[in-house]
Amino acid sequence: MTPELMEAGTQALNKHLGLVTSNAGESGGRAASYGRVVEPDQLDVTHGSILYLDDISVSFDGFKALNKLCLNIAVGEMRCIIGPNGAGKTTMMDVITGKTRPDAGTAYFGSTIDLLARRENEIAQIGIGRKFQKPTVFEHLSVFENLELALKADRRARASVFFKLSGEQLDRIGEMLKLIHLKGQAQRTAGLLSHGQKQWLEIGMLLMQDPKLLLLDEPVAGMTDEETERTAELFLSLEGAHSLVVVEHDMKFINELTTRGANANRKRVTVLHEGSVLAEGTLADVQANDKVVEVYLGR
Ligand SMILES: Nc1ncnc2c1ncn2[C@@H]1O[C@H](COP(=O)(O)OP(=O)(O)OP(=O)(O)O)[C@@H](O)[C@H]1O
Ligand SMILES: [Mg+2]
Repeated sequence: MTPELMEAGTQALNKHLGLVTSNAGESGGRAASYGRVVEPDQLDVTHGSILYLDDISVSFDGFKALNKLCLNIAVGEMRCIIGPNGAGKTTMMDVITGKTRPDAGTAYFGSTIDLLARRENEIAQIGIGRKFQKPTVFEHLSVFENLELALKADRRARASVFFKLSGEQLDRIGEMLKLIHLKGQAQRTAGLLSHGQKQWLEIGMLLMQDPKLLLLDEPVAGMTDEETERTAELFLSLEGAHSLVVVEHDMKFINELTTRGANANRKRVTVLHEGSVLAEGTLADVQANDKVVEVYLGR
């Protein structure tokens, strides 16, 4: 969930509870943040790369969580990232989204947008959506209202949707409900959904903002086999139109994503270990790599 969306949800909850927050006034944080329009940043992908990390290092009290990490994601690519606990996968997403500043290195979105010079909410607005492991939907709101809020948090839609959704916007929410398998649940309170359904709803909320790059951290953790299968279908349907970086420990899921859809069996998998890339190649390549078997797959 983006910081702005988080704020919008808090506001919706307060409205629901009949509360007025102290920062709702003219000089207030939320009002100010809505008024601040980030200049449209032109994403330049003419060189074919949507995300470029080079030599990124992050230390926590001397411990190197990321150690000269390099990663290059192509436009429309679905990249799976695997690796043992503590390898630095989540820290890598923290760097991309501006949550953690690296000690050294370069991070570009397309060829012109320097991610290390941007704040977290700007990065979300210029088209990088992030799904955390734990579902973060607004439990007290309906499924529909969650998607509606996400739409309103999109700066391009803001001007027109403060009062009433247009037919086109209603259609978009309808299509999203279908895509995330929640068509029959639109009026249901999100808090009553299953864990897997909440994950889909959050992915739907991200997609309402039409991110160019989606970062998904352990999206199928805690899902049933059937939910996991459906999530693979959903991600495969996004490939191409979006670029996806998927971190997962569930190798069956990684297998589904890499052996089906566009570029089946040719998709790259990156193995992280101790903050660096240990191996990169097709799933078959990395599965046959002795070092990868030793530190991860052979466990
Ligand atoms: N804020 C922090 N302060 C101190 N150490 C941290 C912090 N965040 C992460 N770390 C450490 O950095 C290392 C990498 O953590 P990270 O969460 O990125 O691993 P991961 O690959 O996502 O692991 P997992 O598969 O368990 O989610 C770990 O040793 C972790 O304890
Ligand atoms: Mg992690």
